[in-house]
Amino acid sequence: MKKALIYYSKTGHTESVAQKFENMDLLKIESSSDDPNQKKIELTKKPDVKDIQHIIFACPVHGFQACKVMVEYLNSLDSLQGKTIDTFVTHHFRFSWLGGLQALKQMRKIIESLGGKVRYQTSINWKSHQRVRDIDQMIELY
Ligand SMILES: Cc1cc2nc3c(=O)[nH]c(=O)nc-3n(C[C@H](O)[C@H](O)[C@H](O)COP(=O)(O)O)c2cc1C
Repeated sequence: MKKALIYYSKTGHTESVAQKFENMDLLKIESSSDDPNQKKIELTKKPDVKDIQHIIFACPVHGFQACKVMVEYLNSLDSLQGKTIDTFVTHHFRFSWLGGLQALKQMRKIIESLGGKVRYQTSINWKSHQRVRDIDQMIELY
């Protein structure tokens, strides 16, 4: 079974978590600009999901939502039918209801609209003292 972690990271937090996963291809989504306020997103690297059976989608929270690059990427996909999908986001604010949960919900909605089935979702608080433990637990679960 081919597994891959498809992610976007602006300042490196999400990428550093992605790099802790073993036995996963790491595929980065890239955009012509990393400005979180850009109006029109132009994706310059769009990982192909066709032959991947287990996908983890990961990105930062920006403005109480999943970052625009991830939203644009997910919306650009044709289908996620028959795939096992997990997601995680990294965020800064202390409470996951200040962005993390909305971002995960938003990702789930798009993934389900493409026929994908979401299994696990995790919100990683970058400021938490338990961050390392939370990341280890997530990796174990996924
Ligand atoms: C433009 C912008 C908006 C952000 N909005 C939020 C937010 O609404 N809630 C939150 O908890 N963190 C927010 N953050 C913090 C990031 O989500 C957090 O630092 C994240 O771990 C960055 O991931 P990255 O290093 O992979 O880009 C924001 C950061 C930026 C740059």
